[in-house]
Amino acid sequence: MKLLHIDSSILGDNSASRQLSSEVVKAWQTAAPAAVVTYRDLAADAISHFSATTLVAAGTTAELRNAAQQHEAELSASTLAEFLAADAVVIAAPMYNFTIPTQLKAWIDRIAVAGQTFRYTEAGPEGLCGGKKVVIVSTAGGLHAGQATGVAHEDYLKLLFGFLGITDIEFVRAHGLAYGDDVRTKAMSDAHTQISEQLFAAA
Ligand SMILES: Cc1cc2nc3c(=O)[nH]c(=O)nc-3n(C[C@H](O)[C@H](O)[C@H](O)COP(=O)(O)O)c2cc1C
Repeated sequence: MKLLHIDSSILGDNSASRQLSSEVVKAWQTAAPAAVVTYRDLAADAISHFSATTLVAAGTTAELRNAAQQHEAELSASTLAEFLAADAVVIAAPMYNFTIPTQLKAWIDRIAVAGQTFRYTEAGPEGLCGGKKVVIVSTAGGLHAGQATGVAHEDYLKLLFGFLGITDIEFVRAHGLAYGDDVRTKAMSDAHTQISEQLFAAA
């Protein structure tokens, strides 16, 4: 069993989503001790934005690529391979400006690949990643779940992974983190409880 752990917060040791995603992974390892974990820190080791160079690199044979294109092609290939190899993915997704961090979007741009993770058929798009499990650690300063303000955050991630064929998507949520100490403490405590008591209850 291979588990891919993704962090994307820019807040380092003060990050709520980093704390919770690491807890999810520890709980997972306890439930499945043989799990092999691959870790990617998108803030410390940012993936470049999907660009014209990335696109041209994908359409150019290896021998004809220049150095920048070769770099882009290798980054795309290794990022996609890591995702394809994973049986489960734990993604820390803080809300920044009503959506996910740009670093996480750059990762998504490398794994949403036609012919690899989805394809178009005569009947419409088809996701090719069914069978994977995704746990999304969703943190926010305000309260957005089920609100219009949360559409580009949790709803977007659900849509994206659904498009890739993934139906087993769980959210560990700690919202209202900027609403003062009491709300923050309760939100984090509820998330801890969810991780320890509910997340692997069916495992
Ligand atoms: C650049 C930036 C933008 C933010 N934008 C929002 C926002 O639009 N809505 C919100 O509720 N909280 C916002 N926040 C607060 C974060 O969602 C909150 O601090 C949360 O804890 C982030 O998770 P993290 O601690 O893992 O980084 C923002 C924080 C930062 C640093």
